[in-house]
Amino acid sequence: MTVRRAAREDISALCALERECFSEPWSERGFEDFFALDYTAAFAAVDDGSGDIVGYAGMYISGGDGDITNIAVTENFRRKGVGSALIDALKDFPGVERLLLEVRESNRAARALYEKLGFSVDGVRKSFYSSPREDAVLMSLEIKRGQKC
Ligand SMILES: CC(C)(COP(=O)(O)OP(=O)(O)OC[C@H]1O[C@@H](n2cnc3c(N)ncnc32)[C@H](O)[C@@H]1OP(=O)(O)O)[C@@H](O)C(=O)NCCC(=O)NCCS
Repeated sequence: MTVRRAAREDISALCALERECFSEPWSERGFEDFFALDYTAAFAAVDDGSGDIVGYAGMYISGGDGDITNIAVTENFRRKGVGSALIDALKDFPGVERLLLEVRESNRAARALYEKLGFSVDGVRKSFYSSPREDAVLMSLEIKRGQKC
């Protein structure tokens, strides 16, 4: 599996992942708008055998904060480290000092992933999600870069 920058050419594969993973998937237009901005970054996890995109993650970047839009891994490739590798790519992005995200309160898999990677809970946003209506848990991770002496 290889993680690389995602781009406009990947939109149809990213839309397929969104439809598989979310009740309110991002549209093609949503991705077009996302990639048109100069303060966004997205990464794709590509299966080395098939060349298929099996996961992706994206973020908006502002003042050292990487605000994660979404992370999704296709079902057959879960629990193989793909989600962790995608978060690592976001963490390593130049200028990003902190990652922020919201997650559905009931999303045990995603919350377990974020907790394992060291994210902490900052609060709850009531009824943030629709379809179905649900609270969001707000989480963040301060990124400690290796320091040279
Ligand atoms: C959440 C998601 C991205 C995780 O991706 P993944 O590739 O399976 O994650 P990883 O393999 O890197 O998992 C790392 C760790 O996270 C935790 N974890 C991941 N999925 C888990 C699950 N279903 N149950 C419990 N813990 C889980 C485990 O600690 C795991 O380590 P382990 O496998 O050694 O036990 C994936 O389940 C997914 O795409 N879900 C649907 C979309 C979604 O909910 N996205 C998040 C929106 S906020």
